[in-house]
Amino acid sequence: MSDNLAAWEIREKDFPAAGDLKDQMKGLLRYAVLSPSGPNTQPWKFSLKDDEISIIADFSRALPAVDPTDRTLYISHGCVLANILLAAEHFGLGYDVAYLPDGPSGERTAAVRLSKKTAEAHFPDLFRQITSRHTNRKPFESRAIEEEKLEVLKSCINKDGFRLDILTDSEGKNRMADLLARAHKIQLGNKAFRKELASWVRPNITSARDGLPGYSFGYTDFESFFGSFIFGTFDMSSSRARIETAYMKTSPAVGILSTDKEDKLTWIKAGVLFELLFLKATEMDIRFDLFSQPTAISELRQEMAEILGVKYPQLLIRMGYAEPAKHTPRRPVEEVLV
Ligand SMILES: Cc1cc2nc3c(=O)[nH]c(=O)nc-3n(C[C@H](O)[C@H](O)[C@H](O)COP(=O)(O)O)c2cc1C
Repeated sequence: MSDNLAAWEIREKDFPAAGDLKDQMKGLLRYAVLSPSGPNTQPWKFSLKDDEISIIADFSRALPAVDPTDRTLYISHGCVLANILLAAEHFGLGYDVAYLPDGPSGERTAAVRLSKKTAEAHFPDLFRQITSRHTNRKPFESRAIEEEKLEVLKSCINKDGFRLDILTDSEGKNRMADLLARAHKIQLGNKAFRKELASWVRPNITSARDGLPGYSFGYTDFESFFGSFIFGTFDMSSSRARIETAYMKTSPAVGILSTDKEDKLTWIKAGVLFELLFLKATEMDIRFDLFSQPTAISELRQEMAEILGVKYPQLLIRMGYAEPAKHTPRRPVEEVLV
């Protein structure tokens, strides 16, 4: 395994079960850094003080063209928080969470105070899926996802103010694919957007510990050497849109995560639920491919909201069965601790 994938090699017995709380907090962060984030920017830092882990937004890794409100950054912080809490529960640590402890304009998105006193579990035990969860951009098998599994997925999200719609009919999937194609056309046709995304695309053989190696899009090693250049220089919108919409139309299900509110706290909480959903899907061998594009363009987002009868669509998810895909790189804990 190459060095930039080493973060995934973590084993349960590496956790310092008999160590002091500080070492245990570092142990939890090894699971936090495996969280998903839009083009794998990993826009997070952590600080440890006494018994508290702070999750801090790293705005130097924000995407001003792709994600001007930092919406997906905050969602990814919710994923980070979920991983920390799942790992804490798994290793028998108690915790208290303060969301946005310095207010909405502060850089800390959450502070988790830990104790060696085991608290009652709030989450299903999805800890073991943290190291196998991954985004999968392959075409999915045409076989349907079983109805009871779709219900399980919906129940991960459907709480006050949060909703998961799952479309399995051709008309519904085609409408979402059409929104995705139009979003691609608008975004990838925009040079600033393309350049920003291209700066996170890497060759397959890379020592970079962030960003998207070409293999995640199915590029060969040779193609991947030119991936970033081609992506940033030419308008690839129609070819990328063609592939992704075809995959979406032929996938057995398309999910849409929505919220009733649109603020930082809601985004973080949506991220917590989303990570639980993603891990639950992983447990059932259901793969996810994610698309924030149509929800980043207000008129398309509005159209999507009207089709579904929801307030704020946050994330479009292609769902289905496929062979697992290769992990993407991660920065180790030492690199993200301040
Ligand atoms: C909030 C959020 C939005 C995302 N949006 C997209 C997207 O629009 N297109 C895409 O290809 N992947 C998207 N992703 C997936 C990331 O690219 C992926 O999580 C990251 O590359 C890390 O890979 P992994 O999920 O396999 O660990 C998104 C992920 C998150 C958490």
